[in-house]
Amino acid sequence: MMRAAPGTRRRVLLGALAAATASFPLAGLAQSILQTPSQTEGPFYPVRLPADQDNDLVAVKGAQGIAKGEITHLQGRVLDANGRPLQGVRVEIWQCDANGHYHHPADRAGADADPNFQGFGHYVTDTDGSYGFRTIKPVPYPGRTPHVHFKLRLRDAPEFITQMYVAGHPGNERDSLLASVP
Ligand SMILES: [Fe+2]
Repeated sequence: MMRAAPGTRRRVLLGALAAATASFPLAGLAQSILQTPSQTEGPFYPVRLPADQDNDLVAVKGAQGIAKGEITHLQGRVLDANGRPLQGVRVEIWQCDANGHYHHPADRAGADADPNFQGFGHYVTDTDGSYGFRTIKPVPYPGRTPHVHFKLRLRDAPEFITQMYVAGHPGNERDSLLASVP
């Protein structure tokens, strides 16, 4: 279960969570926690994880510059169904670069790829369940509204996969995957 941490930048929110909130009657739910819906992994999870896979996706070890795009600090906490923080969860994110390309052989970006964007990163949650990344604000690519992919692993528990959206982005209403969130 994930939710955006309070006090962080609000431009990037758990859109999936927001969608779920909108579909529930809110009365009586003020104190409860809505479970983040899972979503499909999609075709662009890295074939091979990059050498640099830290939580700063804007700087690639050995590269000269920083990534194109709007730098965004993406933070949240991983909680269990009772709201208790989960420590030691491996949180992975992956997303396209500012030109709309994934670091993946199925995305033939060619010269259009941003060599300064890491594309993938991970963080292991702290005692309070928190995670944090420095990345870029996600951008649309053909057929999709902006999003960041998430994969969570905790020891031998089944992995949890979802996507994070940008609250209020006009493309959200046309995105069939987001619309499929119950
Ligand atoms: Fe995607």
